[in-house]
Amino acid sequence: MLKVQEEKFLLSASRSLDFTYRGLLVHHQRVAYLSLVLGQAAGMGPAELYQLFKTAIIHDAGIASFDQKDSLAKFELETEARWEHCQRGFEFTRGIRALAGLAAKVLVHHDRWAGGNPSGFESSRIPLISRIVHLTDRVNVLIRDDIPILQQTGSIKGRIQDEAGKEFDPELVALLLELLRRDSLWLDLTAPWLEDRLLFLLDSINKKPQADLVDLARLFACVVDAKSRFTYHHSRSVAACARFLGTALGFGARDCSLLEAAGLLHDLGKITIPEHILEKDGRLTAAEFGLIKQHPYYTYWLLKPATEGLPLAQWAAAHHERLDGSGYPFQLAGEKIPKGARIIAVADIYTALREERPYRPSLSGPQIEKILLEQVRSGALDKKVVDALLSNRRQLELE
Ligand SMILES: [Fe+2]
Ligand SMILES: [Fe+2]
Ligand SMILES: [Fe+2]
Repeated sequence: MLKVQEEKFLLSASRSLDFTYRGLLVHHQRVAYLSLVLGQAAGMGPAELYQLFKTAIIHDAGIASFDQKDSLAKFELETEARWEHCQRGFEFTRGIRALAGLAAKVLVHHDRWAGGNPSGFESSRIPLISRIVHLTDRVNVLIRDDIPILQQTGSIKGRIQDEAGKEFDPELVALLLELLRRDSLWLDLTAPWLEDRLLFLLDSINKKPQADLVDLARLFACVVDAKSRFTYHHSRSVAACARFLGTALGFGARDCSLLEAAGLLHDLGKITIPEHILEKDGRLTAAEFGLIKQHPYYTYWLLKPATEGLPLAQWAAAHHERLDGSGYPFQLAGEKIPKGARIIAVADIYTALREERPYRPSLSGPQIEKILLEQVRSGALDKKVVDALLSNRRQLELE
């Protein structure tokens, strides 16, 4: 099993959940930080605090689209968006071993204290972790980035107080308002070193648990694939194909797991692209293609800090690089492209050609073979990798 430091991976990869039309927000880290401060004040012990961190740092994994992110950024939640992303987040997290115990908390992270929730829960039947995340989440959407933070505290506290006993647990509101008397807490939330503050806080509550990289990668594969109905299974198929090719090419067990994780995460950077571009039925404009071309860059920098000592970011993010130097976004060529990335590139093309796209149907076996061989001839793809795929294709398709 390939291990990574769990909190680091979640902190870095969860930044992918914060891209919006308005740019990159820091929603998940702010919710996690304020939740931990509130949880500590509420008397939670280290183990429960760590569960709270894990819930808060991925709580909105169920939001697939930029439009839905915009709708949930309003303080008053629209009914459909409110429950839909909780349900999807529940479905994604319950399949991840490291997070399965938190899925039920994600499911009810917007339940109202006063009741009227699909769960049937109200007041103290709603898990404490979910009550905390709901409250700190709503504080965060009230923070405006265009006004100095200490000029907003009065109005934000007023809005929260108004909902005590309705949306929010009144005792938690009282505790939070007491904590928020400290200007420094507001300043922490908007400081550029929020992540450092969060790591510092985490240091005091746990001993840096390790987690299975492939298991955690599956969560983010679900989030990326949900961006478009045409790619609802793409990352998982690329991962299976990459692992298969790794085995066929004689890679060891550890590197095959790394290939699987790289396949699951190769398009993580696509979360930064508005879905109407990913779903566009027709030719992309130069400006739109410019946006698409950003995605492996973001894949790299979302993963690099999370996987120290492993070539995961390189393998995952170099899947659009080509041996002749014609690829992107690092314009690598030849030996600069690691074997792992060459495998992901072939697995990605093969998988994509087998899938339907808004502008074309899925292609047949002979059509795919022709395209792959042309790309070997032109010097773009690795011949050994393509040969391994074509000579084992029947077995791959059966798997
Ligand atoms: Fe949410
Ligand atoms: Fe949220
Ligand atoms: Fe890609």
